[in-house]
Amino acid sequence: MRSLSKIDNLLLGVDKALRAVVPHSNPSTRPLPVNDDTIPELSITESRHVAGLMRINHTGEVCAQGLYHGQAFSAKDDGVRQAMQQSAEEEVDHLVWCETRLQELGSHPSIFTPLWYGMSFGLGAVAGAISNEFSLGFVAETEAQVSEHLQDHIEQLPVQDQRSRAILAQMDIEELHHRELAINSGGAALSPPVRRTMRWMANRMKATAYHL
Ligand SMILES: [Fe+2]
Ligand SMILES: [Fe+2]
Repeated sequence: MRSLSKIDNLLLGVDKALRAVVPHSNPSTRPLPVNDDTIPELSITESRHVAGLMRINHTGEVCAQGLYHGQAFSAKDDGVRQAMQQSAEEEVDHLVWCETRLQELGSHPSIFTPLWYGMSFGLGAVAGAISNEFSLGFVAETEAQVSEHLQDHIEQLPVQDQRSRAILAQMDIEELHHRELAINSGGAALSPPVRRTMRWMANRMKATAYHL
């Protein structure tokens, strides 16, 4: 197989970015992790709240795409890129699962999706340029924080919405696995100020994406 030219790589990057921000542009490789196809009945208020939560989770997955793509763009060696490849592929499934559930709820992803992607790509690229240890540490910390908010969302779901619950629970299992992979690949623990800044940014993002 011939190696890819710079133009090939640029086009592939643009293709991946568009798939992250344009709804329904990814064929999911795995079906929704649910036991049956029954769509739970929710009141209008419940449905709005679940849509807000799912929009946050969808935004988190857009950010994961940006982060992994940004990192691959500036990563210092192929080992890191490959170590993160499977995680990045699982994130595409998460993105599609959240998109699907949002559609079922008659809602839509965040209107700022391209902005979330761009910001995360930038952060991923900076982290990748600093060092492998920092970049992988950044992934590990991001996944840990995502897992925390998934747990929080699972508790907030209406009892009868087993469908959203099953999706978020499967995502949580996989996010924790991504964290483990990043640590085992050499990710360093980040300093408390960096962790606090990440948390602050994630909270701003969550507050915005819940509504918009
Ligand atoms: Fe994810
Ligand atoms: Fe993840």
